[in-house]
Amino acid sequence: MSDNPVSNGPATPNAAVLNAGGKEVPLQVRSGSVGPDVIDIRKLYADTGMFTYDPGFTSTASCDSALTYIDGDEGVLLHRGYPIGELAEHSSFMEVSYLLLNGELPAKDELDTFTRTICRHTMLHEQLMQFYRGFRRDAHPMAIMCGVVGALSAFYHDSTDISDPNHRRISSHRLIAKMPTIAAAAFKYSVGQPFVYPDNTLSYTGNFLRMTFGVPAEKYEVIPAVERALDRIFILHADHEQNASTSTVRLAGSSGANPFACIAAGIACLWGPAHGGANEAALNMLREIGTPDKIAHYIERAKDKNDPFRLMGFGHRVYKNYDPRATVMQSTVREVFDALKVTDPVFETALQLEDMALNDDYFREKKLFPNVDFYSGVILSAIGFPTTMFTALFALARTVGWVAQWNEMISDPGQKIGRPRQLYTGPTERAYVPLDKR
Ligand code: ACO
Repeated sequence: MSDNPVSNGPATPNAAVLNAGGKEVPLQVRSGSVGPDVIDIRKLYADTGMFTYDPGFTSTASCDSALTYIDGDEGVLLHRGYPIGELAEHSSFMEVSYLLLNGELPAKDELDTFTRTICRHTMLHEQLMQFYRGFRRDAHPMAIMCGVVGALSAFYHDSTDISDPNHRRISSHRLIAKMPTIAAAAFKYSVGQPFVYPDNTLSYTGNFLRMTFGVPAEKYEVIPAVERALDRIFILHADHEQNASTSTVRLAGSSGANPFACIAAGIACLWGPAHGGANEAALNMLREIGTPDKIAHYIERAKDKNDPFRLMGFGHRVYKNYDPRATVMQSTVREVFDALKVTDPVFETALQLEDMALNDDYFREKKLFPNVDFYSGVILSAIGFPTTMFTALFALARTVGWVAQWNEMISDPGQKIGRPRQLYTGPTERAYVPLDKR
């Protein structure tokens, strides 16, 4: 794992000037290796007594990062410089994980060693398995994931010294390795089947499939095409720059919290329907639409300002073009259908919905395109996952991005606790009124 200090990028002194409160304030502009420059406002408050105001961080770069680059207008996504389409076609989730953590593609022996390390840390502490029985049988897998992942910090004290790069590496490996076991156990608990323990002779993804769908009474055969498709889905979800859950992990980690607690915070954020929860919501929406003749009605609802309904799996804060992950996802649907010799009418509904939306002025003007979540549910459902597991799978894959980003932040010698300010709109100072006088 790279422990390189994060570069601050070249600075162009005084390249921007702000006129604030009648005073001219020179501001530095910094350039990254590619992408928009940033105006460095770190001294703004000291110089002017003013804050910037950017709820939702629509114009704010919160950190330096060398992991992932997105050009939302062009629909480009690069991990350490490699286009997501090429990684999805030629790489594996283990290789992409190594790449994100270490900065370079591994040589064969490096990949073998990394894969072996991850695959040998898949078991959970046996006491941790008892946690599951404390949840209601109908608990959402994401509720279980938040709890169990947070609880890992109670079991792995030997890797929580975040100032030690070796501890950080071990805890990162543990998190990546144990996430499939945790997610599969959440599923097994919800369907009342016994937990299936990991088989470290299988691939990362094959092992997860067996732990999810295998039962002790039968031998489970991993279907290579399904294993490959799911591995590709994991690649597509591995990292995505400073999205809401990654920013949550960074913010939690900025206080010095241990990595298990930080990843639990990321899982909580991912759960929301505006973020990772959209894959579950998108398939539920497609099933609710049912047949293509109902699509027009739902498109009208999505455009109606008085109706809270939105097309789930559509739109993105950064992509104002087709999400490159959605392109790969769409072609993977057919691959999985062919491998399993199944089909699902919901795919036809999805294709027609996409077509109608992309030809509609509302969606065109607002640059709303399918995102990664639009087609993923169709694939996961064909493989046999219930909708409630979709976001848990997203969390499993995103864990590598979260730990890579967390490690990058902790390795930065200039790292500070994240602490935004506010525009206060409450009452000004007033005297306390005793209860009998109110
Ligand atoms: N359906 C209908 N209208 C939409 C949609 C949608 N899916 N998405 C955005 N819009 C409209 C908004 O109503 C808004 O219109 P207005 O300017 O007239 O008010 C405009 O497009 C901009 O939308 P915002 O919500 O301001 O954009 P923001 O960047 O804050 O939100 C988000 C992005 C949350 C992804 C949004 O597009 C959305 O809710 N999509 C549906 C949920 C979804 O698919 N989330 C997954 C995102 S990808 C991921 O997290 C893995």
